[in-house]
Amino acid sequence: MALVGIWGHPYLRLDDLLDLGALAAVHEEVCLGLTRVAPGYTGGSHRSMGIVPEMFAREAWGDYGEVLGALSPGELAVFHSLGDDPGAVDPGDRDVGEEREVPLSRRQMLWLEYRHRVYFPWKVYYELVPNRFWTEKSDLEGKAFTREARTFFPKTVAFLESLPFVGIGRANVMGLRANDAGTVHKDAEPEDQPVPPHFITIAPVTGKRLFLWDDDRRERTPVDGRAVWFNDADYHGVEADPFFRYSIRVDGVFRADFLAELRDHAAASRRA
Ligand SMILES: [Fe+2]
Repeated sequence: MALVGIWGHPYLRLDDLLDLGALAAVHEEVCLGLTRVAPGYTGGSHRSMGIVPEMFAREAWGDYGEVLGALSPGELAVFHSLGDDPGAVDPGDRDVGEEREVPLSRRQMLWLEYRHRVYFPWKVYYELVPNRFWTEKSDLEGKAFTREARTFFPKTVAFLESLPFVGIGRANVMGLRANDAGTVHKDAEPEDQPVPPHFITIAPVTGKRLFLWDDDRRERTPVDGRAVWFNDADYHGVEADPFFRYSIRVDGVFRADFLAELRDHAAASRRA
């Protein structure tokens, strides 16, 4: 699969189009705020979801979709006993987790990691604007920053609210612990989205090495910028580094004037 990109670019760097002056303060606040809340894990089943290129799917990390499929009835009972509401779930259900009806509990994630060697790439995942299903991330109805987010991350919330969205449908902090890599995956099928849904990935400080992966050319394109929009139907991943890194992803609907500005910016930089 070759890169699709956006309007003839592998991705769009938005640093010059947005006021990023608040990011130094946002960074201080996020690092402190994360010590005061209880982030969860995410990822961990990309291979069984079928969204990893074959070359990377051969790597040896554990995938919880595969693990759950292979548990004995006794092990499955242990797994379900660790759920947030064990009585409410069919004891034979193996289809639990991200993008499923029943999400994993914190204890189930830890047990899958400790007992079954499941690899969760994003071990510091914190929802500022919660959203249940991927297909609903650009829906604005009923979405809001949580009270906890407003309490512990007020500058971050103010910054995100200042971005040129009509409304925000999903916002979260995606953090990787030292030495963990973000598994290469795509968030959607390219034919389903010639132009990607509206979102901005914000890296308040440099050091998180996001890249796009062209599977035809077997080639990485490093993504440069503190604020970027990329086509998330393109394969993307994060390189390992020996320190904690994070970004903030915010999904929603861009304002019409910003979208027009983006188009002009993309056309002008194509000509340059
Ligand atoms: Fe992704």
